Amino acid sequence: MFKIAVAGTGYVGLVAGVCFAEVGHQVICVDIDDHKVKMMKQGISPIFEAGLEELMRKNYKAGRLDYTTDYVSAYKAADAIFIGVGTPEQPDGSANLSYIATVARQIAENIEKDCLVVVKSTVPVGTNDKVEQFINDFLVNDVKVEVASNPEFLAQGTAVYDTLHAKRIIIGTESKWAENMLMQIYEPFKLPIVSVNRRSAEMIKYASNDFLALKISYMNDIANLCELVGADIQDVAKGMSFDDRIGSKFLNAGIGYGGSCFPKDTKALEYLARQNGYEFRTVKAAIEVNADQKTLLFKKASRRLITFHGLKVAVLGLTFKPGTDDLREAPSLENIPLLLEQGADIYAYDPVGMDNFKRKYPEGAANGSGSITYVNGPEEALNGANVCFIFTEWGEIKAVKPAEYKAKMRTPLVYDGRNLYEVSTMKEAGVEYYSVGRK
Ligand code: UDX
Repeated sequence: MFKIAVAGTGYVGLVAGVCFAEVGHQVICVDIDDHKVKMMKQGISPIFEAGLEELMRKNYKAGRLDYTTDYVSAYKAADAIFIGVGTPEQPDGSANLSYIATVARQIAENIEKDCLVVVKSTVPVGTNDKVEQFINDFLVNDVKVEVASNPEFLAQGTAVYDTLHAKRIIIGTESKWAENMLMQIYEPFKLPIVSVNRRSAEMIKYASNDFLALKISYMNDIANLCELVGADIQDVAKGMSFDDRIGSKFLNAGIGYGGSCFPKDTKALEYLARQNGYEFRTVKAAIEVNADQKTLLFKKASRRLITFHGLKVAVLGLTFKPGTDDLREAPSLENIPLLLEQGADIYAYDPVGMDNFKRKYPEGAANGSGSITYVNGPEEALNGANVCFIFTEWGEIKAVKPAEYKAKMRTPLVYDGRNLYEVSTMKEAGVEYYSVGRK
């Protein structure tokens, strides 16, 4: 078993650290935020993630997992240091690597024995070469440092499960020493390992994420065409799904992909291509389709209504998908400002995302002419509403029966971005219902 330090306790770092401890390694998670460290020591996770706190408490108690702000001691003692800090998107689509650079420098200045540095954060192809060079340039002691790439493929909401039951572990190394060490670190997971060079590993991450983003945008394009020609996207997707070359997953049309990965990684790959003098037309198209798709329902509703001014608008779901409190690139963030600008009085509900949303849009009158109120359940949002928008497919929202829209709303006009209901059932219930890719 190895002594592992993990830099960064966001989705990537914390989940990796906890899972390494769970399989028996000695793990110390490093974060600059003292308050966060104190909370984690009490078993409180800074992120909302199923099963995470349970494993944090179990492994902390067993002495295999700890948290610290003292990176000097943590890095000094480590056999391997995993970097899981953020690489946020910059306005031009490139990745901001300053957090990685900070950690790399701290590593270089403090390690006292040979050490493998493993980059888990998603970074542009070629970054790991630069990180290795950077660490060696700043190295204080006479020790061997190598950098390996080990991208993760976890989805938010199922991050712990995805890590412990990953479809594959990708390791990108440039020496037998680094490859063997990573193989040994991952041996207890008993999962398929694909060992390639560093640049291929970096590319596998982008190629995989962007392929899924393309798949979603393709289905959204097909859905939009279905509406125009009278086909039904769900029947079309079902028919496609039996072909195992296509597969049954990620065929759901809707109001576009959000979250921390697909939007960022599509733009980053497009940027990488541009930097290398190549026009990445497919990914560019996926980005464009997604941008339009996010406000599709608002555009549909704007054609149907004279104005949103003074209308009571129910909003069901704020997060980019169910199972997370994350709002990054969520369609709600595109639509709510438009509705407020147009004077809508919004009554919003989300089972876990409301606190985060309130920080961006505090309750009360907004800068435009509209207002936003946060409520305790779907029924309260629907009460007396003139129009309803469904942005996230939370179980609780799916559970609202068609008859309840008719009974609770002043005018049962529903715009559903997640195709939660059968069109015919909503019609029978007396609801005027608009969804995606269906008549
Ligand atoms: C994704 C990848 O799944 C994961 O492997 C990668 O490491 C990080 O990015 P995540 O962003 O957490 O994970 O969520 P995911 O469940 O993949 O959904 C991403 C977005 O696509 C959501 O906005 C979701 O609503 C949308 N989506 C997904 C669709 O619109 N249709 C689908 O069929 C599937």
